[in-house]
Amino acid sequence: MAENRCDLVVLGGGSGGYAAALRAAELGKSVVLVEKDKVGGTCLHRGCIPTKALLHAGEAADLARESAALGVKTTFEGMDMPGVHKYKDSVIAKNYKGLTGLISGRGIQIVEGEGRLTGPRTVQAGADTYTGTNLVLATGSYSRTLPGLDLDGDRVIASEHALQLDRVPATAIVLGGGVIGCEFASAWTSFGSKVTIVEALPHLVPLEDAFCSKLLEREFRRRGIGFKLGARFERAEPTDAGVRVHLADGERMDAELLLVAVGRGPSSARLGYEEHGVRVEHGFVTVDEYCRTSADGVYAVGDLVSMGDGPHPQLAHVGFAEGILVAEHLAGLPVVPVDYLGVPRVTYSHPEVASVGCTEAQAAARYGQDNVTTVTYDLSGNGRSAILRTRGAVKVIAAKDGPVLGIHIVGDRVSELIAEAQLIYNWEALPAEVARLIHPHPTQSEAIGEAHLLLAGKPLHVHG
Ligand code: NAI
Repeated sequence: MAENRCDLVVLGGGSGGYAAALRAAELGKSVVLVEKDKVGGTCLHRGCIPTKALLHAGEAADLARESAALGVKTTFEGMDMPGVHKYKDSVIAKNYKGLTGLISGRGIQIVEGEGRLTGPRTVQAGADTYTGTNLVLATGSYSRTLPGLDLDGDRVIASEHALQLDRVPATAIVLGGGVIGCEFASAWTSFGSKVTIVEALPHLVPLEDAFCSKLLEREFRRRGIGFKLGARFERAEPTDAGVRVHLADGERMDAELLLVAVGRGPSSARLGYEEHGVRVEHGFVTVDEYCRTSADGVYAVGDLVSMGDGPHPQLAHVGFAEGILVAEHLAGLPVVPVDYLGVPRVTYSHPEVASVGCTEAQAAARYGQDNVTTVTYDLSGNGRSAILRTRGAVKVIAAKDGPVLGIHIVGDRVSELIAEAQLIYNWEALPAEVARLIHPHPTQSEAIGEAHLLLAGKPLHVHG
């Protein structure tokens, strides 16, 4: 058994953990990164990257089906799932190679093995221990399920199984109409499945502004995606052909498989956290705005953490930001806590939903409805969107005579617009200031410009 010492030990090599390791190494610290699987974590291997690859394959399928409308002769013969996986896995492999190169290039020691705390700042992996002057916990999250609903990986599956599926299910039920549910419902529909979403709350993507939910629901309806809103799941049972879902109102639904997408829980069990002074509530490690846990010198980042009553989105880019923040805080650099409302959020379905800042309801609750003004700009007035044949709209919420408080967009490819929207929100720009900026024509970004022109009282391409 070897006892090793270094400046920083990081437990978990996903987005949050490896960002902390990379930045700390850049700042001259000696770093050990303990990872039981592959660096890159959920995002690279079982989450963001593979899901978006599937969605892109779905986009290609949709284009093949619809290309006649563009004057291009193609026929859609069907999906070749081994081919899709080959493409998806090649994207992962390329990024994984790049990431491992980055990590070793910065002199970070990767320890392959399952680590757990055996001292206040000591991680044991295998027979060896690693003690840091500081420790970052970054063990991420897992796919949750409901009591009595076992994930068998065959008929009742979670997103990680769905990413490996060797066939296109003829029919599928998706439990949960949040981000994961809507993304898989979208991809599978593009692949040719008949999908129905069961969502307990009154809308799909219920955390988004109701305007976005309604637009997404309209477009999903057009695509033939079924959804039951305000529906209470009761139980599921296997059938000869797959699975039967019972809802609380007595309705039964049959499908080849059931995807459970009811959220992700924190991976904190049996890792020795509480035994060594790290406060854990409902499985989440509680941290302050500098990601400090209750244990001296121990930080936590990413999906694993909660910030008390405040929002803490489980997003890879939040993990990146927190990892960097921790490394800089440890190095004594001035750091600014993350404004979680200012983090852009994207659902990469067809169409996409992207947002930043307050929803209208949040803005009204914070500032009073009378002090808030909103405009919407429909993508039907946007030339590039017409070329791409996408429908959707931009909604901007601003304080009366004040800055922009939130931007919400629905439409294909609008994920690329949310970066501008986040600058507008986070720099507390006034609508008149944004209205002065010239947007390139023809791009979808003009819709953001147009919405601000409208807010500034000088609409250009707006009827009536
Ligand atoms: P989620 O919290 O976004 O959605 C879960 C949905 O399931 C909610 O709408 C909830 O009301 C519903 N639900 C819960 N219990 C239910 C029940 N018994 N019956 C019916 N519906 C029920 O969680 P999701 O989609 O599983 O994603 C997990 C995390 O991963 C999220 O925090 C998400 O932000 C993140 N993620 C982000 C992505 C992105 O940024 N594009 C992609 C995938 C995941």
